[in-house]
Amino acid sequence: MTNRGPGIYYAEYLQLDRLLSCQDRKSAELNRPAHDEMLFIIVHQAYELWFKQVLFELDAVQEIFAGDLVEERQVGQAVSGLGRIGEILKLVVGQLDVLETMTPLDFLDFRDLLFPSSGFQSLQFRLVEMRLGLRREDRMNFDKLPFDARLNDADRSRLLEQEKLPSLSDQIDRWLGRTPFVEIGGYKFQETYRNAVTDMLDRDAAYVRDNTTLDEAERRADLASLAAAKKRFAEIFDEKKHGRRAEKGDWRFSWQALQAALFINLYRDEPALQIPFRLLSLLMDVDETLTTWRYRHALMVQRMIGMKLGTGGSSGHDYLRLTADRHRVFSDLFALSTFFIPRSALPPLPDEVRQAMDYRYVESAPK
Ligand code: HEM
Repeated sequence: MTNRGPGIYYAEYLQLDRLLSCQDRKSAELNRPAHDEMLFIIVHQAYELWFKQVLFELDAVQEIFAGDLVEERQVGQAVSGLGRIGEILKLVVGQLDVLETMTPLDFLDFRDLLFPSSGFQSLQFRLVEMRLGLRREDRMNFDKLPFDARLNDADRSRLLEQEKLPSLSDQIDRWLGRTPFVEIGGYKFQETYRNAVTDMLDRDAAYVRDNTTLDEAERRADLASLAAAKKRFAEIFDEKKHGRRAEKGDWRFSWQALQAALFINLYRDEPALQIPFRLLSLLMDVDETLTTWRYRHALMVQRMIGMKLGTGGSSGHDYLRLTADRHRVFSDLFALSTFFIPRSALPPLPDEVRQAMDYRYVESAPK
């Protein structure tokens, strides 16, 4: 016989009486019931529940990266958590399809009752953005007020508390910066890779110069593009140049972190690098899906209210579309693809590095 416990009841466990009694339609309260207001409320509430789960997962992921030592085994757990966050975000993009079964006219039946409340006041959404790493200075403001001015005092102070803590982006930056294999024994990834890139670009330039099928204009254009590539690469190989670009906001991660991320991407087939590679890919998935949500939400808003201003006072669709372009957190990881070269041109890892990685891999396996 299994122990069935004290006999918990489904509705009690889920507190359904509370959960299902908080969908009060403003329109019904004012004696002009609008059918679709129920859908509007439930979709927003479902979003807030999922945001709660995302924040709960972020607690666990950020806990893993909080210390100076991150165990490899734990990175696997962070990968699971980020995978879950990614799936939730995909799900909530899909929820907009349900909301779009409400037509703009149906929405007008109750929209005037919502002013001045707006999704702009979703504290949990702001916390998700902030904890991932969207900073105050990255944000687009649609008037002179800071983005949190429309929150009530309690919500604003929770946000300000959170703002003092390191974001996931800060934590990943530090963790990547500590990656040991980029410089181990006599091996310096950065030097080996720079030589490989220079050889590859010189070979390509020699091929262009000797290629008799090209006319002079084509040859000049190809050589100029190879020279531009060389210049671009120089910026990632030179710490000072990276620093100048970072000051302008072109890079966010430290130079060391970018080298490590490059190394992990290029040598991801090594067993010890597979989990870090999965982690970096998932951070990009999360960023990309959140961006997809922003675009989809902006399109839905255009369909629902056209050029009208938002209930929260923004330009509506125009503001939201711009946030999709600009409110990105892990852009560095996307930009890094510029600096990948084909596997055939990649220098093989020296034995001492592979052995060191294998050793660590075995050492940290469960006993
Ligand atoms: C009929 C459906 C919807 C309309 C017409 C709409 C409209 C808008 C508008 C115009 C804004 C810009 C701020 C403002 O001026 O109010 C906004 C922001 C926002 N909305 Fe919606 N929205 C809808 C549904 C949703 C849903 C289902 C969610 C899910 C939680 C949501 C979450 C947000 C968030 C988080 C923001 C802030 C975005 C940012 O500042 O980056 N909205 N919405």
